[in-house]
Amino acid sequence: MDKTESQMLIIFGASGDLTARKLIPALFHLFRGKFLPKNFLVLGVSRSSLSDSDFRNRVVRESKYLTNEINGNGTEFINEFADKLFYHDLGSSYEESYTALAERISSLNSEYQTENNYIFYLSTPPNIYEVISKNLSKQGLTIQEKGWKRLIVEKPFGYDLASAMNLNQKLHKYFKEKQIFRIDHYLGKETVQNLLVTRFGNSIFEPLWNRNYIQHVEITNAESVGVEKRGGYYDSSGALRDMFQNHLLQIVSLVVMEPPIGSAAEEIRNEKVKALKSLRIIKDHKTLNENTIRGQYLGAVINGEKVKGYREEDGVSPNSTTETFVALKFFVDNWRWKDVPFYVRTAKRMPTKVTEIVIHFKPPHHHIFIDSGVNKKDNKLIIRIQPDEGILIKFGVKVPGQGFKVERANLEFYYSNLEGTNLMSAYERLLLDAMQGDATLYARADEVEAAWEFVDPILEYWKTNKDAKIYGYSAGVWGPQNADDLIEGEPAWRNPSANLADDPGFCVIK
Ligand code: BG6
Repeated sequence: MDKTESQMLIIFGASGDLTARKLIPALFHLFRGKFLPKNFLVLGVSRSSLSDSDFRNRVVRESKYLTNEINGNGTEFINEFADKLFYHDLGSSYEESYTALAERISSLNSEYQTENNYIFYLSTPPNIYEVISKNLSKQGLTIQEKGWKRLIVEKPFGYDLASAMNLNQKLHKYFKEKQIFRIDHYLGKETVQNLLVTRFGNSIFEPLWNRNYIQHVEITNAESVGVEKRGGYYDSSGALRDMFQNHLLQIVSLVVMEPPIGSAAEEIRNEKVKALKSLRIIKDHKTLNENTIRGQYLGAVINGEKVKGYREEDGVSPNSTTETFVALKFFVDNWRWKDVPFYVRTAKRMPTKVTEIVIHFKPPHHHIFIDSGVNKKDNKLIIRIQPDEGILIKFGVKVPGQGFKVERANLEFYYSNLEGTNLMSAYERLLLDAMQGDATLYARADEVEAAWEFVDPILEYWKTNKDAKIYGYSAGVWGPQNADDLIEGEPAWRNPSANLADDPGFCVIK
């Protein structure tokens, strides 16, 4: 296990939902797993007037996100964790002087010997990232003479390329790139990281991982929920910004990238940037029109329950044209991927929650079992990100008996079969990495910008062109029907169920 040095985690926006829902539970699990250093504390900072003890009660002792943990552990243990938490009220605005905050940090640092090592976690709206950074810098809290200083920022990182570049420039005034950790929680998912191991830790997949053997790549990210309580934010964002620009392009970059020369953070990130830069930017209107499909969910009855349409959700404009469904077809302009189409879709209010990558291999060059009809069904490698995490290979087998009838069989690996393994949640893994200074699973400035460069023309086209339609789809179906036409020939999208091996493959029962 890598060493985690003594340190203080200072969370801005600590009275918000993310702190209680994700950060504190992740820290509790790290504490329970003995991953936290002996000298460690959390200082929550925000504009609510709370005492240390109010904060501890709110995010630990009375937290609905820790109910199982509280019931499953003794009070003494829970208190031991809660006592590591402190709170500082910033007053009425994030713009005010940080002198009192700096004093509080300094006194906690001396008392608990956190060795001047600080992580500043900005769980606030991005428009105040700069003012917080500036104020920290004014107080000398970004200088790394004594102890290290790191900054973690949440998404959204920019609204388009220009704003992302602007934000990078602003942050770079106060922090060096090496100090900045841009969080993308999909990179914290075990199965996303396993993509690197599947590709570069085996010799059986990589020789096939190119245009000679792969027909097309399909990535689906579906959520069954709607926008829930986030209508206000979502309506000015939409699926392309909310999911595709960050999480899905991260996955795409791991599928597309060339083998890095080693596993060091910069080597992996260099290859990911190269991969993102090799995506063919869709610029002409015809291709934008044909290859970018957007939709919005309409009200429906699902399992007897009435579900609101997107425009009826709280915080959403009744005339909104914000997309809750996106399906894209695009190409990668490099040696490995020339002419291989990538189909990626993401949406809310789908029939189930699932994220998976499907690598469709080409049929054999020469068909000797053509009569069996099997060549119409391609060989597939399915990498399941969530749920039912695992890998499935679909391949042909001979049906016992006369002749050469061929059927599809499944070869599966499930993470859940690994006994005694405790999958860390995305936030646990990412927080621990940042605490150890490992930025491999965090997005670099140029990576974020390269992703926006691909997304910008699509957003612009949708915004400014009358022929850019938005299709309705009933909540609970796999999006607008014409999204199926995006995929040329057979098969259309694999519409997965919650189980990885949704169709069992060939088997003989008797
Ligand atoms: C967030 C998006 O980044 O990811 C949400 O803002 C989305 O809209 C969520 O629901 C999905 O994350 P996960 O881990 O549940 O797939």
